[in-house]
Amino acid sequence: MHPSLVERRRQLLAAIGDAVAILPTAPEAVRNADANYPYRADSHFLYLTGFTEPEAVLVLDGRRGKSILFCRGKNPELEIWEGFRHGPQAAAEAFAFDEAYAIEELDQRLPELLADVPALYWPLGRVAAWDARVAGWLEAVRARARFGVDAPAQFGDLLPLVDEMRLLKDEREQAILFRAGQVSAEAHVRAMQATRAGKYEYEIEAELLYHFVRNGARQPAYESIVAGGANACTLHYVANNARLNDGELLLVDAGCEFMGYAGDITRTFPVNGRFSQPQRDLYEVVLAAQLAAIAAVQPGATLDAPANAALRVLVQGMLDYKLLAGSVDGVIESGDYRRFYMHGIGHFLGLDVHDVGLRRPGGQWRQFAAGMCTTIEPGLYVRPDDSVPAAFHHIGIRIEDNVLVTANGHYVYTDAAPKRIDDIEALMQAS
Ligand code: GLY
Ligand code: MN
Ligand code: MN
Repeated sequence: MHPSLVERRRQLLAAIGDAVAILPTAPEAVRNADANYPYRADSHFLYLTGFTEPEAVLVLDGRRGKSILFCRGKNPELEIWEGFRHGPQAAAEAFAFDEAYAIEELDQRLPELLADVPALYWPLGRVAAWDARVAGWLEAVRARARFGVDAPAQFGDLLPLVDEMRLLKDEREQAILFRAGQVSAEAHVRAMQATRAGKYEYEIEAELLYHFVRNGARQPAYESIVAGGANACTLHYVANNARLNDGELLLVDAGCEFMGYAGDITRTFPVNGRFSQPQRDLYEVVLAAQLAAIAAVQPGATLDAPANAALRVLVQGMLDYKLLAGSVDGVIESGDYRRFYMHGIGHFLGLDVHDVGLRRPGGQWRQFAAGMCTTIEPGLYVRPDDSVPAAFHHIGIRIEDNVLVTANGHYVYTDAAPKRIDDIEALMQAS
């Protein structure tokens, strides 16, 4: 248990006033028959509780200022099969809840907790089964109206309140993110060292997963993309089953999840360890765009600054190498660059790989502030087309790093994975 958990709940209690807030964790998910996917708690729930068992609900009682956990009860028989469960009492002690009850008591206790409460927050309108369950509790409170009990009359979505809190990473979160970034970057180094013509994409994926797991990061933060040659032009390519060919590039987009927090790195490098001239030309454009975008990550700068900085560099490159004709401003105006660069410059990073937080609250670009964490990931993807020089056909390049906004600038914490051409070639020649 770390003190920030209690502080987060206290902050949320202050935000909801006299209301009650209800937050269930994620359900278990069946993979097939009686085999489940690896369990992953809901990120908002994890942020506020630190509790990783399924079948759990957090209730914040604003009037009494109390945080209450509902969780699986102890069950020695089942624990022989399925492993340790805290049970309410140990969970309350370990995670500093004021009260804890068995999950089976939820339907009985919630109508009591909601009596004479003016307002209720939960993840409203997200999971139909929970909306129905909340409606059932409200019905039970309303049934007591003739005894003078008032039911909540105001309802709100809980998640935006938590999203705002999650946007700024505290020191502990930053340390965990740095570790997720470090392990992810080391895995990319390992992938570069292992790459050879004739291997299969999944053999490189295995190197990444091996490094994640042996460092205590049991899961990737998202499905790894290991895309040789033309496969790199499929943005979410995850088949990872093709042979790696001499003379082609390999694009690897992979990051681990460490203690719930995501790393998200992309590197693109030559299968044979040496960039050809056309590969080098486009790579230098993407790298220059990425460095320009990273330089624009500054506290006080608006969130669109990195995208704008990268786009001008990318478009200039498209003109220089005759992918497009015209002027930088004209191509940006027309949107023609989207043929070769069709995704955003990046996203917030945290417990979710595409982390929460509005980018344009109230229609205005948000400003970067110390403690925000973002990816910066420009790319160029050239599908074959008569209008494009043949030397560039099938080349797909993306370079992605993870960046923390600091009080006076930014900190790129994933640069243990080389991205300058000389550094990549030196590493690959030596392996
Ligand atoms: N790996 C997912 C992304 O880069 O957004
Ligand atoms: Mn990525
Ligand atoms: Mn990303």
